[in-house]
Amino acid sequence: MGARRHPLYGIVFLMPVTLKNQVVLVVGASSGIGRETAVLFAREGARVMAAARRENRLRDLQSSLAQEGFAIQISSADASDVSAMEALAQKTRSLLGEIDILVYAAGTNIPDRTMKHLNAPHWDMMIDVNLNGAFYITRAVLPAMRERGSGHLIYIASISGQTPDVSGAAYQASKRGMLGLAHAIRVEEKENGIRTSVVCPGLVDTEILEKRPVKPPPEMLAKALRPEDVAEAVLFVAKVPPRAAVPEMAIVPTYI
Ligand SMILES: NC(=O)c1ccc[n+]([C@@H]2O[C@H](COP(=O)([O-])OP(=O)(O)OC[C@H]3O[C@@H](n4cnc5c(N)ncnc54)[C@H](OP(=O)(O)O)[C@@H]3O)[C@@H](O)[C@H]2O)c1
Repeated sequence: MGARRHPLYGIVFLMPVTLKNQVVLVVGASSGIGRETAVLFAREGARVMAAARRENRLRDLQSSLAQEGFAIQISSADASDVSAMEALAQKTRSLLGEIDILVYAAGTNIPDRTMKHLNAPHWDMMIDVNLNGAFYITRAVLPAMRERGSGHLIYIASISGQTPDVSGAAYQASKRGMLGLAHAIRVEEKENGIRTSVVCPGLVDTEILEKRPVKPPPEMLAKALRPEDVAEAVLFVAKVPPRAAVPEMAIVPTYI
């Protein structure tokens, strides 16, 4: 559904695309932005697969949505493992059908993030989770989307991928890399009916902040975005009509 004619006035209204019965795979759905995204998509009637490593958190999400009357699928998977991402795409297809929307919300950071302390294993882990995982799952879902001539890839990057800050070289390199990944895919795949969007949040009050060298004080957290704010942005991006695309979107707290 892209546009609808008013019965009396004949005016064409732009209507958001319905997400009902769309198959949505959310990677990084056990907490924060990914979790809230899975919640909002489920409430829209989408058929959701929620994935991350912490199975207990995924089960909590599944039962809390079940109490609202929404059934979702869950799968424990490590995004930094290429074969786990291939298996996740396959499992989603066999349980729910062809994947319409991928949301990559997995991400992490480390307290020892300055160049003085950053070592090679930490660098590799950061790039693996924040960037390579996005590539692995994209590669696993793209061929079927290409064949069907439709699909939407939505990546959660960060304003740290747009503007230099103190989030660390590995984090910023991975997030800038994600912007590059998303924009490159968009240029190559738009002719195949595949849309690609990258959402860049500012400060969001989620568990990732526990990994900062110093957690933001309560007065700053009070002004931060909440994960459901970013989830609403993802929902908006997913609902624009197929003729429209949102290549890149920032969402920041009002104080910025
Ligand atoms: N919070 C902010 O201020 C902020 C700002 C800009 C951008 N972001 C980005 O938003 C995204 C979501 O983060 P969040 O703020 O919602 O923090 P969060 O609550 O810590 O969520 C991170 C998610 O990533 C998953 N994850 C981490 N490593 C994984 C792995 N190896 N395999 C699979 N899943 C993995 C976690 O699940 P498991 O641990 O269960 O695997 C969790 O579901 C991240 O990419 C982050 O960089 C956050």
